[in-house]
Amino acid sequence: MAKGIVIYYSRSGNTKEMAEIIAKSMNESGLKTDCKSVEKVKADDLLKYDAIVVGSPTYYGHMAGQIKQLFDESVSYHGKLDGKVGAAFSSAANIGGGNETTIMGIIEAMLIAGMVIQGDPQGDHYGPVSIGKGDDRVKRQCQRRGQRIAELTKKLH
Ligand SMILES: Cc1cc2nc3c(=O)[nH]c(=O)nc-3n(C[C@H](O)[C@H](O)[C@H](O)COP(=O)(O)O)c2cc1C
Repeated sequence: MAKGIVIYYSRSGNTKEMAEIIAKSMNESGLKTDCKSVEKVKADDLLKYDAIVVGSPTYYGHMAGQIKQLFDESVSYHGKLDGKVGAAFSSAANIGGGNETTIMGIIEAMLIAGMVIQGDPQGDHYGPVSIGKGDDRVKRQCQRRGQRIAELTKKLH
């Protein structure tokens, strides 16, 4: 059976909250999904999953170093994430503070690994974004993204 994981880094809880909503929505949409802080994930754990969702606070317009390190460590099995479903989300302090550049950075790494990324024509196009603590709009975007990831993963795997 297909399986998913939501991996996040979070210092003050905003990205963690988004991660938990996305993972809950993936589970409720029929894709068994774990939700883990990046500190508890080893690079080769990623091999077990069909969908890998990664969230990071925006740090100077990029993913946090802890998330980048996970991607860097995955080089030891480069090519083995080929065809898995990927998605990204981010929390920043400011509108225009770099949420979408952070998401694109994560997606770039996923594309290099051969992963399949789905945009969203109606919701947050690149992935859910939040300014500070998520409001109702953010919660809806996270639920919607979780559902879409689960549906795509079940279709492909
Ligand atoms: C080192 C560092 C760099 C940051 N850089 C940015 C930034 O470039 N743009 C921005 O809008 N917020 C920036 N922030 C704010 C965080 O992205 C924001 O507070 C986020 O919601 C924190 O997520 P968390 O609660 O999951 O830790 C930065 C925070 C830190 C600690």
